[in-house]
Amino acid sequence: MPMQLLDGKFLSAQIKQEIAAEVAQIREQGGKIPHLVAILVGTLGRSETYVASKMKSCEEVGMKSTLIRFDDTVTEEELLNAVRDVNNNPDMDGLIVQLPLPDHISADKVMETIHPAKDVDGFHPINIGRMAKGLPAYISATPQGILEMLKRYDIKTAGKHCVVVGRSQIVGLPMAILMQRNTYPGNCTVTITHSRTQNLPDICRSADILIAALGRPEFITADMVKDGAVVIDVGLERVPDATKKSGFALKGDVKFDEVAPRTSYITPVPGGVGLMTICSLMQNTVKAARGEVYTGF
Ligand code: GUN
Repeated sequence: MPMQLLDGKFLSAQIKQEIAAEVAQIREQGGKIPHLVAILVGTLGRSETYVASKMKSCEEVGMKSTLIRFDDTVTEEELLNAVRDVNNNPDMDGLIVQLPLPDHISADKVMETIHPAKDVDGFHPINIGRMAKGLPAYISATPQGILEMLKRYDIKTAGKHCVVVGRSQIVGLPMAILMQRNTYPGNCTVTITHSRTQNLPDICRSADILIAALGRPEFITADMVKDGAVVIDVGLERVPDATKKSGFALKGDVKFDEVAPRTSYITPVPGGVGLMTICSLMQNTVKAARGEVYTGF
């Protein structure tokens, strides 16, 4: 079977249209316009880019968005108070605090302070726990975007061996939990691997679905991929490249040129998973505005 691209650009445009239509309908019916709030601490380049892109996407689909910025000298208590203010503001439906945070602030404490019903990133322990149990929950945006891709390309997952490389709280851990659930996409036999894993190439080679989320540019090479595998690349790193005007190229965790010919499906970088992430965040915010995930809070 020839290799097919899992085209995040195409899918995200399609999903954005769907969200825009839904928001337009809400507006016509006089309902609550979904409102996403992002808190950004400091001026880290990639965080600036991500947050700007999230805000712009909200605008494109007719949603409301607010960016709250702090210097990286902000105290933990000041930040927690800003989170509490958003929790208490009925006009604000969803809140994300962009990670990473400076070392003097506990990301766990911040995540736990976000009200679970506004936690559209799905990072609160209540949302992670509910997701693991298969209860209604906000699912973190990148894993949800990957599920959406698998679904829209009708990729069979039941009974397959899914290898997740990386155990981050944002991607690897939730991804592994989701892929083993008794639903579609899911019902995989899941192996979660990390920096201490022995025989990683052997394990990767046994994957029908390989999800690379370790944050090391071009780590996954052709010899680590089975013929016909589905390869999902979550990496997005800037690598110096003198041939580019910007001085850098964007690289995923997969050595695309040599891996792609072996696969049945593969995500490009850029133009793959990243664009899906933002769509999931907006879908979650629409659900938050509709009160669909949590009732009775
Ligand atoms: N940093 C990298 N990815 C993410 C994400 O999905 N959400 C937040 N809040 N921060 C991130």
